[in-house]
Amino acid sequence: METAWIPLGYLVAASLFILGLRDLGKVRTARRGNTLAAVGMFLAIVVTLIDAAAVDYRYILAGLLIGSAVGAVVAVRVPMTSMPEMVGLLNGFGGAASALVAVSILFQEFQKHPSSNSESLASLFGGYQTAVTGELTLIVGAATFSGSYIAYLKLRGTAIERAMRLPGGNYLTLVSLIASLALAGVLTVVPFTDATTTTLFFVLMGISFLLGVAMVMPIGGADMPVVIAFLNSLSGIAGAMAGFVLSNYLLIIAGSLVGASGLILTEIMCKAMNRSTISVFFGRFGGEVSAAAQAGYTNVKEAGPDEVAMLLEDATGVVFVPGYGLAVARAQHITRELADFLQARGTRVQYAIHPVAGRMPGHMNVLLAEADVPYDQLIEMQDINPEFKSFDVAIVLGANDVVNPAALNDKSSPIYGMPILNVHEARTVVVVKRSLSPGFAGIRNALFDNNNTVMCFGDAKQVIADVLKELKA
Ligand code: TAP
Repeated sequence: METAWIPLGYLVAASLFILGLRDLGKVRTARRGNTLAAVGMFLAIVVTLIDAAAVDYRYILAGLLIGSAVGAVVAVRVPMTSMPEMVGLLNGFGGAASALVAVSILFQEFQKHPSSNSESLASLFGGYQTAVTGELTLIVGAATFSGSYIAYLKLRGTAIERAMRLPGGNYLTLVSLIASLALAGVLTVVPFTDATTTTLFFVLMGISFLLGVAMVMPIGGADMPVVIAFLNSLSGIAGAMAGFVLSNYLLIIAGSLVGASGLILTEIMCKAMNRSTISVFFGRFGGEVSAAAQAGYTNVKEAGPDEVAMLLEDATGVVFVPGYGLAVARAQHITRELADFLQARGTRVQYAIHPVAGRMPGHMNVLLAEADVPYDQLIEMQDINPEFKSFDVAIVLGANDVVNPAALNDKSSPIYGMPILNVHEARTVVVVKRSLSPGFAGIRNALFDNNNTVMCFGDAKQVIADVLKELKA
């Protein structure tokens, strides 16, 4: 049913996606952006269902109810700290959905011609465009699915958490990529019977699964967020290609938006870690930890909450440096209370935000916004770094890798070259964490041994509550 208002509906939905993306770029407008994009998606589904009038609505309704119920339960139950795993898994589902579109379109075409015919995919689909985009949808979708599942397992902290070298290393990725493209080429031009085409199509799917596994398996440690953003982009690209297969403009637009924003995010994260995208995928960062990076500590000084309170009492400027541990401890509210207390006494207070602190982009911004920390107190890395010298106290709350000076001065360190927050330049650094355990990258932190660093061991929420109690007393 092609009426004039169907393209119009798609246009409105696409505009809502774009407006939603624009609003999602700022903490202040992110909620509105989410709502706009969700309304756009609802409109897209309704218009698509009306457009494809042949579908059986009973199945659609059943799928909608089951999917919404599972989505709602998962969204409510997933802790903030597990969001990257969830995003990883959802990317995978996006890829799988696109791959299934490619499979279903093949079987649809089979039904339209006599099964005794031997045909190439180009002649089966009546041209190269659908044949090639269908195969690319299958390759990218299947690779996104398997790669995302591996990324999910890694982020969950399973046995394959670290970077792992598969037999053949990077060559396996390259060989499976070339093999998948070659097989796709053969299927496009060489005529086969339906049975052979089906078998080869599933072989192509298998090789694409292997491509995803080979691509993600060797990556680990601090590179994982980049991989998640890249897989996000791939799921969008697979969706856009499925849009070409189905001649659905909205899917092409939505897929392209996801693909482009995922790539931009990948680029931003690589810049934040001073890495090139190529070196993330082929450089095995996070895999090998040098002896120097693992060696023990020799100059650790401990301070209790009472001593930290004394330091704060005398400070004219205090900078809070939140990290993953702040999210685990859910210490954002009590931190804000402490900041408010200090400000009321005339102390200058700011928060230093590293782009990859925590476990997802914008993690710290979201946490601190939840505690109503004023936006103008959140200072990005490039702006706060020249300022650290002017602070009497820097309180590192559950951050580790993002304040590790080894990134600046230890060439053997796996994180060498990653820009960090220069907290070591503050007059005194207080590190609040439960032990001397390493952070995500699994390496020792030279900051803990510095002369101007004191460690205050404990759960971040408890420590800050104790410090505040001492200050008030
Ligand atoms: P991390 O280096 O991971 O360190 C977090 C620290 O928090 C740990 O050393 C841990 O030490 C401490 N901690 C855990 N629970 C705590 C609690 N209840 N109270 C106090 N401390 C607690 O964190 P970071 O500095 O934020 O760096 C982020 C890392 O994750 C980077 O390597 C980054 O590349 C990676 N990563 C980032 C993202 C994004 S996009 N943000 C996504 C995935 C991975 P204890 O166990 O001793 O307490």
